[in-house]
Amino acid sequence: MSAILNPPYVPIPGIFLLLFEVMIEFNKSEWANAEFSQEYIENSDIYIVERRRLLEILRSFYNHFINKKPNIRILDLGCGDGIITHELLKVNNSISATLIDGSEDMLNKARKRLTGFNHTHFIKASFQEIIDKNLVQGNFDFIVSSLAIHHITMDEKEALFRSIYSHLDTDGYFLNIDVVLAPTEALERWYLLLWKEWIDERKTLLKIEGNYFDEIIKRYKLAENKPDTLDAQIEALKYIGFKDVDCFYKYGIFTMYGGKK
Ligand SMILES: C[S@@+](CC[C@H](N)C(=O)[O-])C[C@H]1O[C@@H](n2cnc3c(N)ncnc32)[C@H](O)[C@@H]1O
Repeated sequence: MSAILNPPYVPIPGIFLLLFEVMIEFNKSEWANAEFSQEYIENSDIYIVERRRLLEILRSFYNHFINKKPNIRILDLGCGDGIITHELLKVNNSISATLIDGSEDMLNKARKRLTGFNHTHFIKASFQEIIDKNLVQGNFDFIVSSLAIHHITMDEKEALFRSIYSHLDTDGYFLNIDVVLAPTEALERWYLLLWKEWIDERKTLLKIEGNYFDEIIKRYKLAENKPDTLDAQIEALKYIGFKDVDCFYKYGIFTMYGGKK
């Protein structure tokens, strides 16, 4: 267990081609199931800790670092129903946004949500395909992802971060909102308790009975979730060449981190 909780971070250039051979296919994942996706959309405000605060910080980051640029292009990786891009389009509706997700169902929900915004492009692709096939064209001022990159392994994360770096304009930013692995088991026990306390608070406020949401906490390290430590991800960004790398927000396992090209 402790080996999983505290993986050493050793960047090995050149290993990625081998790793692609063992990458899981998105189609086998739970996100390929429309009911699973719908459940997330309906309940994420309950079980994503401080979801609304995270979105406020995202908007602040965008306003502070990006919004002054002309002809802004953003890329939303693992866009789900388009909530992150939508938040940014509410700030600036002239943004040109490319949204990528492995799920056609999620992309359809994003298309529906963003109806009326003129400069949106949707691509169905898994992260593995993005890395492997170099599907993304052009450069961006801001590449953002929310609660999606934890579905890939640390080696895949590093390969994706490299791809992100190559698709950022100089001075462009990458920001990732995601769950991470605690660096020790003791901290993990507390972080999961913090998460439970958050969910219990929502349950009381919204008068929700039962323990359905407690099960979500148990699922967080199972099968398709591959959280890695914040340190490992921060170090990977620095190693690749990102500047101003930092954790911008943290609440237990929920974090927001990123950097600048
Ligand atoms: C928890 S949802 C987050 C959606 C949205 N970004 C948000 O913050 O609400 C995770 C999203 O990542 C997508 N996803 C999961 N694994 C993926 C993969 N390997 N490649 C591409 N997308 C993936 C899922 O289809 C889903 O839409």
